[in-house]
Amino acid sequence: MEEKWWHDSVIYQIYPRSFQDSNGDGIGDIPGIINRLDYLQELGIDVIWLSPVYKSPNDDNGYDISDYRDIMDEFGTMDDMERLIAEAKKRGIKIVMDLVANHTSDEHPWFIESKKSKDSPYRDYYIWRDPVDEKEPNDLESIFSGSAWEYDDKTDQYYLHLFSKKQPDLNWENPSVRQEIWDLITYWLDKGIGGFRMDVIEMIGKQPDKGITINGPMLHEYLKEMNRESFGKYDVLTVGEAWGADLEHAKQYSNPNGEELSMIFQFEHLTLDEDHESKIWNLKPLDHKALADVMSKWQIEMEGKGWNSLFWNNHDTPRIVSRWGDDQDYRIKSAKMFAIMLHMMKGTPYIYQGEEIGMINCPVTSIEEVDDIQSRNMYFEKKAEGYSDEELIHAINLKGRDNARRPMAWNNKKNGGFTDGEPWLKLNPNYLSINVEQDRENSESIFKCYQELIRLRKNNPVIIYGSFQRIPVAEDAVFVYKREWKGVEVWVIVNMNKKLTEVNLNFLKDERNLVITNYQSPQIKNDIISLRPYEAVVLSNKRLIR
Ligand code: GLC
Ligand code: CA
Repeated sequence: MEEKWWHDSVIYQIYPRSFQDSNGDGIGDIPGIINRLDYLQELGIDVIWLSPVYKSPNDDNGYDISDYRDIMDEFGTMDDMERLIAEAKKRGIKIVMDLVANHTSDEHPWFIESKKSKDSPYRDYYIWRDPVDEKEPNDLESIFSGSAWEYDDKTDQYYLHLFSKKQPDLNWENPSVRQEIWDLITYWLDKGIGGFRMDVIEMIGKQPDKGITINGPMLHEYLKEMNRESFGKYDVLTVGEAWGADLEHAKQYSNPNGEELSMIFQFEHLTLDEDHESKIWNLKPLDHKALADVMSKWQIEMEGKGWNSLFWNNHDTPRIVSRWGDDQDYRIKSAKMFAIMLHMMKGTPYIYQGEEIGMINCPVTSIEEVDDIQSRNMYFEKKAEGYSDEELIHAINLKGRDNARRPMAWNNKKNGGFTDGEPWLKLNPNYLSINVEQDRENSESIFKCYQELIRLRKNNPVIIYGSFQRIPVAEDAVFVYKREWKGVEVWVIVNMNKKLTEVNLNFLKDERNLVITNYQSPQIKNDIISLRPYEAVVLSNKRLIR
């Protein structure tokens, strides 16, 4: 496989609203990010994926864009953005932007024009349909609750919005729409950015009249066209968000022939504990064996046929330590175990802000404390259906997106050093003990573990290009795999829960060097390793370079 710069890169996702405020208005901003670049350089990452910073009325915190070529006032100016790109570059860091092209804001000039009349040249930029029996064209539902169709009485038609009413879906069947997108991609690439994360890209080929929203027939055609007409001329990283991608789609998206994207985010691992029987959001206990099966499947099946992205967290999902780890007694141990398990795999790892210090979920007690539009819409819809406040708040605490969106805790001073003013969303009250400064002073620092994992990846091709092999073990919660490259073998042994357990290491070579672990040192006697709660041990037949 041809080597690419993003094969050995580690990416850090920033949710700008919550990262660092620089002017006391309580909202994170671009100058704030610039002030923290040295921190990110110390961590060792190569790329920042910035959640959207474009002009937006913020119905969905920037995922509703009203001008793709300008910066949201709260976040700064185009000058700030250009300075961020330049300052990051000085530190060897590339900026990847979020391309939200499935929909715009209803305040985007295209939509304002489109709404004016059926003859508007922008009418077909969006998806308008006649009523059926004076009702919605069909029963498609919005991911943010309710019908996906919104009536507009001016022209007596409905428009499609798979997310909020303020996020009308673009009509990708219209070549002018596609051309607009290619142009704005080029506009940003010419400013020197390193690529794009593509929001819900799996939806662009939708056929709403047939009820098809993801993986539509034209999806891969449009991506090939996008590649040819825009970013394909640049050496950039592209990663598509694809909740519904199976292996076949993933191989098409990220095929090494380079016709589509560099890689995708698929979510099979993160949906394993979802309780589909439940009518409101609910999680069931994690089946550890299923997790190891899924992780292994993607490692093995994508070998040579595509490229994986590796991640546990983002701005839409609860914190992994709270979800599958133990965010009380074993917060540090479990945070590191998940980090080690993931970062030893093949693919491009993503770290979501705060993950590197083990930030955890932040439960709320009332809907007034909730900002996220998805959680709020769900709450009010289900409330009307008769669900109790208690059930709904519980659901939001399990799955709500604010869990990941609490401002970054930098120290134990006022508002965790995030802002001098009133934060737009309160910090997790535990910021007094869980914050960057405290973690970095701790001899058990999670940050240092991430630093080490990044260094190991940079210095040892076995981690980047080595083959992957699952080693079967009897215990369901223990996951063992081997990486191998030109005679270098690396074994990763992780205990995914708190149960003490023993594993026979007879599959190991005699020469065993410790690569990394989350305990002082492994307990191995006569080929039996005794694993403690959330213990992770990595051994190699060679001395890896740190
Ligand atoms: C993606 C984003 C999410 C957003 C949605 C609509 O899933 O990650 O935050 O709400 O798309 O743009
Ligand atoms: Ca600010």
